[in-house]
Amino acid sequence: MLMNAGPTNVSPRVMDAINQPLIHFMDPKFLEVLREISAGIRYVFQTRNQYSMALTGSGNCAMEAAICSLLETGHTFLVLVHGFWGERAALIGRKHGYNVVELRVQRPGHLFGFKRIDEAIKAHKPRLMYVCHGDSSVGTLQPLENLANVCHENGCLLLVDAVISLCCAPLNVDQLVIDAVFSGSQKALSVPPGVSFISLSPRAVERMKSRKTEIVSLYLDLILLAKAWCLDSDNHYKYNMYNYKYVYHYTPAVQLMYGLRESLAMVVEEGLQNVIERHQKCSLFVQKEITSLGLQFLVQKPEHRLSALLALWIPDHIDGQKVINDLCNSYGITISGGLGAISHQIWRLGFLGVNANPQNVNTLCKAFSEAINRQKNRE
Ligand SMILES: Cc1ncc(COP(=O)(O)O)c(C=O)c1O
Repeated sequence: MLMNAGPTNVSPRVMDAINQPLIHFMDPKFLEVLREISAGIRYVFQTRNQYSMALTGSGNCAMEAAICSLLETGHTFLVLVHGFWGERAALIGRKHGYNVVELRVQRPGHLFGFKRIDEAIKAHKPRLMYVCHGDSSVGTLQPLENLANVCHENGCLLLVDAVISLCCAPLNVDQLVIDAVFSGSQKALSVPPGVSFISLSPRAVERMKSRKTEIVSLYLDLILLAKAWCLDSDNHYKYNMYNYKYVYHYTPAVQLMYGLRESLAMVVEEGLQNVIERHQKCSLFVQKEITSLGLQFLVQKPEHRLSALLALWIPDHIDGQKVINDLCNSYGITISGGLGAISHQIWRLGFLGVNANPQNVNTLCKAFSEAINRQKNRE
């Protein structure tokens, strides 16, 4: 059982969808699959954005595609760093040669207040700002309200990483006026790793189309990807299933797209709000159990915690890795250690997608408590 930061277990329905016979990606029937995925992406992100599409490549792929499609040489890229994922966005920005400005939280587990962000945008005049809605390396959930306003007033686009927060926390992309938002397959959607997806606002599309320079990557060029998905309004309405002309970008992961379509359909059937509440209820249960074990959360305030991924400090007298190994060997349960600067100091418990159910979280908590007690008794 994968009770970690992802990938999570795959739902049987998704597995059945993946097992369908392969069709050619230039077959018009595949365009229909893409259209349904696009509609599903709009639903889970709560947006009307035409440019809503999936990429063959994991969450990092969508992150880099967004950054290099929306920025040009000489532009300033403001990155809010809660933990590992902000550092990753900054690293991508530096590798592409943008002028990266990092804004860091005072301590791991803290959030940014609006005032600090507002001042940084006004001081640095970035063209793009990255913010991680849920940072899985520390378990934070950053509020996004009012950020778009200050970004737009200063000529900046708002890029949101929703890889782990999607379907676990409310995220209304149109209400928040987010310009670019991405997520991945292997978290709350319970699809195997290998695909990610992104949605771009008309403002972001306009920015890409009015670039003075070419996007430096071909594979990650979101204008080319949108062409392959027939998302441009002219193409979108002109071509129907029987007379569309495929625009080749690269060979997509056809089977994973089937899986993604199925998973998005499952969210529609269950209802986005119900999916979010299922994750939140499981989280409250786990938080209660963890508190009763006397363990400390990395994120102190419950309202600042990401529901489906909880980061816990490993007590001094316990060998964290031994608990991880014990859970794996004795119960077949995988939990995560840390990532980045505090990697040896924390455990991360995840209950994403199909694993967000009372039975699995109960099994996790019992096994976790037993594994900790065994380590305590050995010390
Ligand atoms: C918040 C966040 N952003 C980005 C990523 C990168 O996704 P991937 O590992 O699918 O490339 C992850 C993966 O855990 C993540 O949790």
